Amino acid sequence: MKRILFIVACFLFSIVGVAQKQTPLKSLPLIPLPKDVKWSNDHFILSSQTKIVLMSDAFKPEVDYINNYFKANYGFELATVLVLPSDGNYILISRPDFEAGWLENYELNINQNQIFIVAEGNAGLFYAIQTLQQILPLEKSPEIKIPCVQIKDAPRYKWRGMHLDCSRHFFTKDEVKKYIDYLAMYKFNVFHWHLVDDQGWRIEIKKYPLLTSIGGTRKETIIGKAVWNKDGTPSKDNKYDGIAYGGFYTQNDIKEIVAYAQSKYITVLPEIEMPGHSLAALAAYPQFSCTGGSFETFTRWGVSDDVYCAGRDETFSFLEDILTEVMELFPGKYIHIGGDECLKDRWKACPKCQQRISVEKLKTEEGLQSYFITRIEKFVNSRGKQIIGWDEILEGGLAPNAALMSWRGVKGGIEAAKQKHNVVMSPGKPCYFDHYQSKDKTKEPLAIGGFNPLDSVYAYNPTPTFLNAGESEFIMGAQANVWTEYITSFAQVEYMSMPRMAALSEVLWTPTEKKNYKDFIIRLKLHAPALDKLGVNYAKHFKSLK
Ligand code: ACM
Ligand code: ZN
Repeated sequence: MKRILFIVACFLFSIVGVAQKQTPLKSLPLIPLPKDVKWSNDHFILSSQTKIVLMSDAFKPEVDYINNYFKANYGFELATVLVLPSDGNYILISRPDFEAGWLENYELNINQNQIFIVAEGNAGLFYAIQTLQQILPLEKSPEIKIPCVQIKDAPRYKWRGMHLDCSRHFFTKDEVKKYIDYLAMYKFNVFHWHLVDDQGWRIEIKKYPLLTSIGGTRKETIIGKAVWNKDGTPSKDNKYDGIAYGGFYTQNDIKEIVAYAQSKYITVLPEIEMPGHSLAALAAYPQFSCTGGSFETFTRWGVSDDVYCAGRDETFSFLEDILTEVMELFPGKYIHIGGDECLKDRWKACPKCQQRISVEKLKTEEGLQSYFITRIEKFVNSRGKQIIGWDEILEGGLAPNAALMSWRGVKGGIEAAKQKHNVVMSPGKPCYFDHYQSKDKTKEPLAIGGFNPLDSVYAYNPTPTFLNAGESEFIMGAQANVWTEYITSFAQVEYMSMPRMAALSEVLWTPTEKKNYKDFIIRLKLHAPALDKLGVNYAKHFKSLK
């Protein structure tokens, strides 16, 4: 330990020069901007002779990660040693002198001879490496010039999420992994995986194979925007493509993706919708509906009137069986149970649902929704997990331990925080990345509507300023949602989410007082070649901004 202290002391002495020669912050492609960053015009020269000094074996996975990166991008790996080399330059990875439980924090200090990384946890080291990667040159060279920097970093929020709807359109395992790569690059730590909806069931459940063999396919898909009759029914003028559409993830696929995300310190949050958005499941198992069916997986967008029957105990057994398999696949604390947009017409007409309302003294269908969610919560809690749901789960009373995801604005999130429930903010404005990002819609791919330009995302503050400290504590963070009714390919997922994802990363990571949109755009322009190298189909509107 003394030796490390000595090294750190020498290092601190050497960085005095770094701080003095600091140039304006604008010229490093760092996103999200670290909490505290200084740099000079000096460089560390990394070559195949550079050693990695590893002070803790626990950090080996991250050393392998960075070595894989060096090998893929520069054609060499670095040797790992346990003692300081007597000559040559090196990267020293160590833990801080005392542990404070800040597992995502790190320090990255680079002078002309050494790169020092200090992290208490593997996640912190991983984030230090993400930062380092952003300032590495993109060109292959035997001598890699890295700017001398002095960075102290820590996230603003503990929940930094991105969502992807794989029900309306299906994305392959490799595409999902690519999405996870982008999340990791910007230090997100939650991937919200929307696996189930009216238009397709995408997760293998061993006990109920029809969920994927029937619910995993729709016979065709509507073309463009739906046309509606005056009475709210879909018009006969709607056009369908006549092509069967399907796909699902096997449990092995899921395990592979969860492990892949875990290696990048990303928790996968599965969403299993209930009681609404459940038509694909009911197409496979109509006995859990109010009417008994029959049903087809939805071929158009929107919300189905048919939902799970809350009056049948068998519905709950069915969902508990599904959740049992889901909870075994996803190691995170939370399971997302949807809860949004459950139309109540079927419940109003269903004798079993009405009987439940009467026996349980629930008064209304909203009360029945609350009963449904609370009953599911009890089961999930009994297995050691927590539920999170969209803000409709407030209706009729929030289940006792539920966390809430606020999407219809922030009102629900504020209400839940006041009731001392954990909250993730995800208001349609500006967190729906399926909305348009440019005013000129004629130049954009067809989108669901709305307008969430890059600057509106950047300006977002997930914690309303009028909340008191005790209430703000319950705002865990925020996330953006990528619904895919009108997003038919992964290239379009990239277009809609990048660079808005980069802007959101700064909302979630960077201290508010350090944020500056003009500076962000300068850094984004510097960062764009890295996206080009990765082949990302990002939206380029920002390139014309001054
Ligand atoms: C939602 O957009 N229905 C959560
Ligand atoms: Zn019913």
